[in-house]
Amino acid sequence: MKDAISPDTLEESREAAYSTPLDQFTAAQADRFANDTMWPWFQRLREEAPVHWSETGAYEPHWSITRYEDILAIDTDHRRFSSAEGIVLQTPESRAHSLERGTDGAGFITMDNPQHNQQRKQVSPAFTPPSLDKLKGLLRERAGNLLDSLPVGETFDWVDLVSKEYTAMTLATLFDFPFEDRRKLTYWSDIITNTPGFGPVTDWDQKFYTTMECFTAFDELLAERKARPPSFDLISMLAHGEGTRDMPKKEFHGNVVLLIVGGNDTTRNTLSGSVYALNKHPDQYDRLRADPSLIPAMVSETIRWQTPLAHMARVALEDVEMHGQTIRKGDRVVMWYVSGNRDDTKIDSPDDYQIGRDIRKAHLSFGFGIHRCLGNRVAELQLTILWEEILKRFPTIEVMEEPTRTHSVFVKGYETLPVRIPERI
Ligand code: HEM
Repeated sequence: MKDAISPDTLEESREAAYSTPLDQFTAAQADRFANDTMWPWFQRLREEAPVHWSETGAYEPHWSITRYEDILAIDTDHRRFSSAEGIVLQTPESRAHSLERGTDGAGFITMDNPQHNQQRKQVSPAFTPPSLDKLKGLLRERAGNLLDSLPVGETFDWVDLVSKEYTAMTLATLFDFPFEDRRKLTYWSDIITNTPGFGPVTDWDQKFYTTMECFTAFDELLAERKARPPSFDLISMLAHGEGTRDMPKKEFHGNVVLLIVGGNDTTRNTLSGSVYALNKHPDQYDRLRADPSLIPAMVSETIRWQTPLAHMARVALEDVEMHGQTIRKGDRVVMWYVSGNRDDTKIDSPDDYQIGRDIRKAHLSFGFGIHRCLGNRVAELQLTILWEEILKRFPTIEVMEEPTRTHSVFVKGYETLPVRIPERI
């Protein structure tokens, strides 16, 4: 469903943001995310209404939390803020569809403790530093081959040829999913996160049937892994783990969605975001070329600057007072990471992209608390290795046109990013 807001320039958006009465105000506008003009709406909330109730717009009624410290406080307070009612702000239509069709299965990101912990710990071994060390050689080899296959001197879509391809390869390995079918993972992720009219989704039926196709493929993989001795991949861990082997089908499907979307969109959009940000800030690109040891810091700065998941939502389990407002038990609360990462009381010149910042442990993009991103290290590793290999090969990657952006208030990313590599080193 489209928001009833037409695309506008940043200046027009600023005027609208500062002239809309706060009781008719919402920052949750997918059109403005797609247009990259949502920033003034968050700025106004941070300045004037850091805990803001909204009943207008396309989405369910919700509180918006926009300042860094408040987001951190809620994210780490899982006793009063539950994930069990869903962690994504939805339109009433989209929630009704998933409830009606039974595609609302909960993975452990949508669970509270103790159940959350029981399931999280089954797959955690795949993400420890020793496990990731074993992945490094493979990631580097793939990065090199992929970069060597790119056309030189021609415009091509970075999102399709690099960002989607590289992250699909990693995810296929983590799942031990048939490698030749890896792009199905990207496709299914796009089907699951989009609504009709956006991405590859044409209508609700197609979204449903394609989601079922994904679930059937994973049901078959699960049955196959159950029949085999345990192996070191995510499906086998779910199949044999004490906390997950007897879980209902719907929960398994919820975990599949979590791992596909968590592993796909986020890293993919950071990869595209890094090329875009370095082009927007050529002085930072020069710095990186001059000193490749800045790559890990650049990766973290990109993850902050991009904020690949714009928010996470919770539901209050009791009445909570914040900044003179009462969040009532049962109210939906949205932590806007995209806003907290631009809070100038916490981060200096937050709209600037500065690759030398020491931001890895401070940015909000991976969340904090019991649900902190399990894949954060594997995401950083993929990005670091790919950039190490890029700098060895290409003096520059030029952005040829503005990207098209994802129409979503959740996934903050790019649909296309036309680039050109003028020459090899
Ligand atoms: C959870 C962001 C990459 C798997 C999360 C959360 C965020 C997030 C915001 C929720 C945090 C919270 O509620 O406090 C990101 C970003 C990534 C990324 C920005 C890339 C730049 C990945 C990758 C994987 C992954 C590559 C797996 C392959 C997960 C899982 C959870 C999670 C399993 C659920 C953790 C839990 O509920 O305990 N991620 N993620 N993520 N992410 Fe990521």
